[in-house]
Amino acid sequence: MKEHQEKRGCVVTGVAGFVGSHLAERLLSLGHEVVGVDNFFSGHPENMASFRDHPAFNFYEKSIAEQNLLEDLTEKHPSLNCCFHLAAIVSVPYSMDHEDETMELNFTATVRLLQSAEKLQFKRFVFAGSAAEYGNDQRLPLQEAYADENTAHASPYGRAKFLGSQKVASSPLGVALRFFNIYGPRQDPRSPYSGVISRFLDMALAEERLTVFGDGLQARDFVYISDVVDAYLLAGGLQDSSFEVCHGIYNIGTGRSTTILELAEIIKALTGNGNAPRFLPERPGDIRFSLASVEAFSKAAGWRAGTSLRDGLRATLQWYREHRPEE
Ligand code: UD1
Repeated sequence: MKEHQEKRGCVVTGVAGFVGSHLAERLLSLGHEVVGVDNFFSGHPENMASFRDHPAFNFYEKSIAEQNLLEDLTEKHPSLNCCFHLAAIVSVPYSMDHEDETMELNFTATVRLLQSAEKLQFKRFVFAGSAAEYGNDQRLPLQEAYADENTAHASPYGRAKFLGSQKVASSPLGVALRFFNIYGPRQDPRSPYSGVISRFLDMALAEERLTVFGDGLQARDFVYISDVVDAYLLAGGLQDSSFEVCHGIYNIGTGRSTTILELAEIIKALTGNGNAPRFLPERPGDIRFSLASVEAFSKAAGWRAGTSLRDGLRATLQWYREHRPEE
């Protein structure tokens, strides 16, 4: 049987988060057993609503800081052999004020889980890395090798993710996916650190002016959630692919750059919001340009982000229209 046709037992840490919930939903739809872990530090129970009662889903409200976490879960669910590790402190500003806690959760706990996965003879361990691992490197597009020991990380978050990716990539089980700016349904628009797309869609639907920090010419590489989930399946060896098993560190972006002003224009057109953007001071510590080189994962796994920004925004907008919380 080909590797991708085997039904796997998958652990998803951070399953109540934006990305983790989409990954779990897809794994379940493909017939895999999913054991989800979350402590609701930043995830929300509502994100699991569509699969909470699925017969192949089991949920544990636990922290990844817990000792023997994978061992205990595997004892209860012997089919487990693949770990998607997404749980982390996700707020960069929070990490600035909580350096030790960020290192413990985003790095030390990752190492512990990886070592457990090795001991338990798991087949795969897939780690959620971040574009923050590149610091403010402006050699674009960013290639995986640019992040190294000399990189000046702008936050404990970036540093811990960098160390985590290095460690994971050194394991025969390990794949680290370095995500650029992910967007899509279920992303929380209401926190001060929410991604710009969720904020802009939320403001546009409220018929407010979109807030642009700085001149709006800063640019990002926005990647749609379903393309991210496809990348996860390939990294976990769960999707048909003629490619060899991949190991190492891979950027997950589109390779396309969009300025914040361009984004504002597209969102205004899609929502019919006719208001001019409101320009506010530049956000301290903001990175000017971020753009992924996407050749490595294309070569290793045949993956490309297939969703255009317009299509991704349309689908996200549709979801916000249906689910947007009242003021
Ligand atoms: C992301 C992280 C950020 C981290 C950085 C490190 C998120 C949501 N943010 O920031 O915490 O420091 O990676 O790589 O994951 N913008 C506006 N108006 C708004 C909101 C944002 O103009 O209302 C601008 C920002 O100034 C920024 C761009 O949009 O230039 C993108 O912002 P954001 O979505 O927060 O992502 P990153 O800046 O990439």
